[in-house]
Amino acid sequence: MKRILVTGALGQIGTELSLELRKVYGTDSVVVSYIRERANEILEEGPHETIDTTDANRLKEVVKKYNITQIYHMASILSAKGESNPQMAWDVNMNGLYQILETAREFHCSVFIPSSIAAFGPSSPKDNTPQDTIQRPTSMYGVTKVAGEILCDYYYLKYGLDARGLRYPGIISWKTLPGGGTTDYAVDIYYQAILKKEYTCFLKEDTSLDMMYMPDAVNASIKLMEADPARLIHRNAFNVTAMSMTPAKLAENIKKHIPEFVMKYDIDPVRQSIADSWPNSLNDSAAQKEWDWKPEFTMDMMTKDMLDNLRKKLA
Ligand code: SER
Repeated sequence: MKRILVTGALGQIGTELSLELRKVYGTDSVVVSYIRERANEILEEGPHETIDTTDANRLKEVVKKYNITQIYHMASILSAKGESNPQMAWDVNMNGLYQILETAREFHCSVFIPSSIAAFGPSSPKDNTPQDTIQRPTSMYGVTKVAGEILCDYYYLKYGLDARGLRYPGIISWKTLPGGGTTDYAVDIYYQAILKKEYTCFLKEDTSLDMMYMPDAVNASIKLMEADPARLIHRNAFNVTAMSMTPAKLAENIKKHIPEFVMKYDIDPVRQSIADSWPNSLNDSAAQKEWDWKPEFTMDMMTKDMLDNLRKKLA
């Protein structure tokens, strides 16, 4: 029987991934963890623990206590926050991952590790960025993501550890806010469209980045972990995408539902330069071929669902 541990379970993706994992595998089979105690419905409805993933002893204690067989390692510092404290980003993203892999090696767990569009850099092909290509990122977040991808490959090759992962694009969702990313505008814009009918975007109107709606991101993660290993050529760091968008395109899409919505721009140079170093669009044909990846949500479907859910949440 599967016994799953989720780290970073109160983060933007961790929250919804934990809820879905509990639906699929049963509440008691999914232990959710976060760095510190915080009142939250997912913590309270099933097994939960406090874990700082850089603390090897604590990690091993929890894995042992629940006989964990699979770890979804979602705890991470995102791109913009990482640039304000690169040392902390390295510590959490690299030392945390290292302890996860070492624990998984000792206790024979499989591991899911998220990577990102941030694993590419200015010298990577900008459009339709291939699965295998130049990766020289210029943000600390990106450096930790590439290093993490390679480290996971190493643990597989050296120890046969079943580590698998995706390069997520920007993830859009309504349940939990993202914390400190460059793609956060694409979430915030929906809140402000409802609350103020106006949003001031920190990226230029024509900044093209790939995005995905949360249900697709959650499905992709679980589908990859369930995929037949015999078909996996890449295993780690699969490009996945659902839509390529710019702030202007997203604003137009929201205007179909809120015609009076006004978009303004006040560019943040740090986040703009991070976004400019990332691909405009990803090629995810390896994921399609190796584990039948296919997103469900288009931008139109996502905008309708986001606005419906946020209107209820903010009422
Ligand atoms: N959404 C992330 C960020 O903006 C990218 O992986 O940092």
